[in-house]
Amino acid sequence: MELFYRVGFHELVADILTLIGERELSSKNALERTFRRVSGKDREKARGLAHAYVFEIEKWRAKIDFIANSVLKGSRIEELEPYLANLIRIGIFEMKFRGTPPGIATDSVVRVVKERYDLSRAKFVNALLREAEAFDVDAALKKLREKDRLEYLSIKFSHPRWYVEYAVEVLGYENAVRLLLSNNRPQRYYVRVNPLKMDVDSLRDYLEDHGVRTARTPVDDVLKILDYRTPVARLEWYRQGKFVIQDLASAYVAHVLEPEPGERILDLAAAPGSKTFHVAHLMENTGEIVAVDYSLERLSRMKEKMKLLGIKNVRLVHADGQNFRDRERFDRIILDAPCSSSGTYRQFPEVKWHFNEEKIRRVINVQRNMLRNAYENLRDGGEMTYSTCSIRIDEDEENVLFAINRVGLELLDYDFSWGDRGFLEVGDKVFRAWTHRHDCNSFFIAKMKRG
Ligand SMILES: C[S@@+](CC[C@H](N)C(=O)[O-])C[C@H]1O[C@@H](n2cnc3c(N)ncnc32)[C@H](O)[C@@H]1O
Repeated sequence: MELFYRVGFHELVADILTLIGERELSSKNALERTFRRVSGKDREKARGLAHAYVFEIEKWRAKIDFIANSVLKGSRIEELEPYLANLIRIGIFEMKFRGTPPGIATDSVVRVVKERYDLSRAKFVNALLREAEAFDVDAALKKLREKDRLEYLSIKFSHPRWYVEYAVEVLGYENAVRLLLSNNRPQRYYVRVNPLKMDVDSLRDYLEDHGVRTARTPVDDVLKILDYRTPVARLEWYRQGKFVIQDLASAYVAHVLEPEPGERILDLAAAPGSKTFHVAHLMENTGEIVAVDYSLERLSRMKEKMKLLGIKNVRLVHADGQNFRDRERFDRIILDAPCSSSGTYRQFPEVKWHFNEEKIRRVINVQRNMLRNAYENLRDGGEMTYSTCSIRIDEDEENVLFAINRVGLELLDYDFSWGDRGFLEVGDKVFRAWTHRHDCNSFFIAKMKRG
């Protein structure tokens, strides 16, 4: 363990961080890929620790980079070779966030740099980390606060600057700070009962018997996990598909859709399937759900999960949701669009660094093409939900306005039983959940109809 921990572990974490940065993988996916080539008796222990490192480094990356850039001379950490930059991030994380004695943190990283690169770069990293050790981040943040309030928030709470500007503009300063704080708190878990196999009260009793305390939520079939002895994913009933782990707001979409038994439903961006499965459950395996996604890998994971959950009325289709057509039109459509994922920072901190304005413009274009295509696939009088896990008005309310004015859809005045309303002139007819207010992902839902 000693040798593995001192040398191998830092390299593994740098590998995972580099995969996430260069290929834009989720941290879970990058961790899985990297650990495929790791063996030995300490594998599971190392995996748990690597997960914690990656999660925290992605969460605190803006602050870590601020420290690095404050002591770097003549370049910025973003301009260094990504693997080397990630080793430096690990060193700073250990000494400034994790409480590792700075000498040990520096030595562990410098040793890897010496092996992977050369002596001169090892000296460079050694000097940099020694300076980082002496750097007073609180004093620097205090100065920054006087100079540029938004930049200060962006570094202190480690969020992209655009997100901070956005949150302050739409929520006001105080609520924006609440949102930033809540995004950095530990993830809250929710479970949804599988009604084909169980009822919610029995699930609650079972969880209680297994040391998991829960509370009811505004969504009838969803329980909030308050605390636990064993992670719920390790319980037998989870392995038997009697419940799923699903975020609260995400599990509201199927209820808003109000599917009727026997209907034909289209899900235009279905993987990994949470909402498709939920609709299938509410329809008790009647009718047909056509689940489209353009990621084959994610669809194949859906297939496995469907077996476990006892779902028989879903047809998986590998296609582009922007132009998919079927032999006949549908009664209802779920469009849970690909988006900036800016509502999921608490759960997936790495997505904070994956989107810039240019990429967001591209994703909005896809969302609008999907809205047009949803209209084409909907029968006259058919209804649909449009949802995103984005906080941005351009991905949410503005797209609803686009759907009304440019596509021909009609916005329904759905009676949302919880959550907040939104912005612009459609604000009183749409649903928003916020991490700081509703303790789940920030989320958007609108219900529309083809008139
Ligand atoms: C927000 S996720 C959907 C989550 C899913 N509805 C659920 O509840 O589990 C967006 C999905 O859209 C898919 N996607 C992105 N672009 C697409 C396109 N042009 N056509 C179809 N699917 C697409 C992605 O692969 C991703 O699985």
